[in-house]
Amino acid sequence: ASPAQKPKLEIKLCAPRGFCAGVDRAIQIVELALKRFGAPVYVRHEIVHNKYVVEDLKAKGAVFVEELDEIPDAERERPVIFSAHGVPKSVPAEAASRNMFYLDATCPLVSKVHKEAELHHRRGREIVLIGHAGHPEVIGTMGQLPQGSVSLVETVEDAAAFAPSGHGPLAWITQTTLSVDDTKAIVEKLNERFPEIIPPHKDDICYATTNRQEAVKAVAPDVEAMIVVGAPNSSNSQRLREVAERAGCARAVLVQRASDIPWASLGEPESLGITAGASAPEILVEEIIDAFAERFDVHVQTVRTADEDIAFNLPRALREAAAE
Ligand code: F3S
Repeated sequence: ASPAQKPKLEIKLCAPRGFCAGVDRAIQIVELALKRFGAPVYVRHEIVHNKYVVEDLKAKGAVFVEELDEIPDAERERPVIFSAHGVPKSVPAEAASRNMFYLDATCPLVSKVHKEAELHHRRGREIVLIGHAGHPEVIGTMGQLPQGSVSLVETVEDAAAFAPSGHGPLAWITQTTLSVDDTKAIVEKLNERFPEIIPPHKDDICYATTNRQEAVKAVAPDVEAMIVVGAPNSSNSQRLREVAERAGCARAVLVQRASDIPWASLGEPESLGITAGASAPEILVEEIIDAFAERFDVHVQTVRTADEDIAFNLPRALREAAAE
């Protein structure tokens, strides 16, 4: 069809969107490890929650496992990389006990929360972690301390029901990829019940999560539908979808690839918002815009609510490979 025959579609592209500095660094760590040490390089858990990224690294020689014991003894000399979400202390301990060579791709902003938890613990404080049960970051953060030292609170109801053990003052920390607004409500409940509870020095919800949610809030009220490019197991992507709905967009859907776009139920919108979770590569955003451009006469406008210029240092063992 010529553009004149296609229905018009105004696409508002959220910015910032997609890769954050922690995801970028984690992927670079795998790529540089492959460059420096050759294949195979083992990766414990999806390096970041995105199938496209994982498949791409697999094709380059990365081997993904869920636990270290899946790595055969004969392969112990190969590097193993821990994912961006962070790992419980037991994981590097196991690697060391098996004489494995490991590289830690934990996002430095997750490590910051780990350190906070340890500091509170050393000072005899009882810790409340706001987060989602079962997410690898939550498992990693809780696993920095002996079992029972950290209580998980997922909702305002949990905060209302939380019963402290009474051993020492209380402190709260959070997962880095939560909904800013939901977390605020949970913290309000905790403050109301425990006015002395100690907050983090600086927000634990990271800059990337905050900025992506802000951009969605700016776009969502003006569009009929919102596409969030991201994986169902990606916490920050799921939150973007919820934020879009709450900000007044009637229909917000999470899609991994253009082939997931629910054409029938989307109908013929005149306006569409697009964003991408922190683990979704820009190439998938382009693929999705192209798919819309085949059916619609699209006009793309970027709506930017923040500038980002954050980058993290690479582990020392890889700096040389990076400089080559
Ligand atoms: Fe780190 Fe935030 Fe990205 S914690 S991995 S910068 S989403």
